[in-house]
Amino acid sequence: MALTSIFVSFALSAALSGVSQANPIRRRAACPDGVNYANNAACCALFPVLEDIQTNMFADSGCADAAHAALRVSFHDAIGFSTSDPSQGTGADGSIFIFGEQEIGYDANLGIADAFNLEAPFIAKHNISVADFIQFAAAVSLTKCPGVLPPTFMFGRVDATAPAPDNTVPEPFQSSTDILARMADAGLTAADTVALLASHSIAGADDIDPNATGVPFDSTPSLFDTQFFVETLLNGTVPGPNQGQASSPIQGELRLQSDFELAHDPATACLWQANVNNQQAMAQAFQQAFAKMQIIGQDASTLVDCSDVLPAPPALSASQAQAFFPPGLNISDVQGSCDGTPFPNLPTAPGAAVSVNSM
Ligand code: HEM
Repeated sequence: MALTSIFVSFALSAALSGVSQANPIRRRAACPDGVNYANNAACCALFPVLEDIQTNMFADSGCADAAHAALRVSFHDAIGFSTSDPSQGTGADGSIFIFGEQEIGYDANLGIADAFNLEAPFIAKHNISVADFIQFAAAVSLTKCPGVLPPTFMFGRVDATAPAPDNTVPEPFQSSTDILARMADAGLTAADTVALLASHSIAGADDIDPNATGVPFDSTPSLFDTQFFVETLLNGTVPGPNQGQASSPIQGELRLQSDFELAHDPATACLWQANVNNQQAMAQAFQQAFAKMQIIGQDASTLVDCSDVLPAPPALSASQAQAFFPPGLNISDVQGSCDGTPFPNLPTAPGAAVSVNSM
């Protein structure tokens, strides 16, 4: 054998021995529609759903009303579960719509009728479980919000055969202790709870203030950024007289009593403050906690990972990722509760104090 071919054969076998230790090369399955590919052929069933809801349900409206509603209902469905009491529901099981006549009537589900009206016609058209539809629509909704890291989607949930009882969904007027206890009972830690509440960065309220709808929880409700964690830690100067409401730092912004309490509870205050101006950590913690929430009560070993079907979320620009004090406010307006860790000093947005627009 010539010296060069000995060398080639040695190099090839060295390369192959490296390959044999690496992960096998996966072939993506071509879907029957002749257009799409998926890591698992079972996921092909999701492409027609994706296309329909993108075009007709979310109607390409971005990180706005429909996306926010789809995200909220995914939590209200999943949280109907207890690690100790089977009578509390079977988790992310679609019960909130399947038994909507009962569950949507619970006080904590005020406003969930909007999500039902949005999603029901599409659930009727597509042959996937209601439980899967709710969580799939929520994952798709997240991909509309700049700053979200790619969500996961596990496919194959079993639908509920009974409704979740009342009082599984936390209320904004409950104490942080009660809320954390309810979340823990469903299998979610205090850290998971704070992580999940990053969702309130792309959210607002229709039913807390009887005189206003679409009142955002932070000044950037279409961006999944850390402003929510900044603004919930600023002194409240605008009165919030309604049940479940606390005073907010900016005209036109609504602060939930529960967010205020969790921002200051010793069990969560430092986790809360740690998210301030820490986009990557916040987005990563949310990504993980959301994946956990989405399969509450389901047998994970029977689900298929169809995350590759989801579109990529838009990125947040560097300037959007920079947290700031709203115009006219600064570090002296911070009401911090994480003893021993100074609140980061942030730039103040230029201009005179403004009022936040409704969504
Ligand atoms: C843990 C305690 C929580 C409480 C007490 C709570 C409470 C609330 C309340 C009172 C509203 C306003 C409803 C209205 O008046 O329209 C709201 C909105 C919202 N919540 Fe939560 N929430 C919690 C956790 C979560 C979680 C874990 C998620 C998602 C993972 C979530 C997602 C949302 C979204 C997206 C909205 C905005 C809905 C819209 O604009 O249509 N929330 N929440």
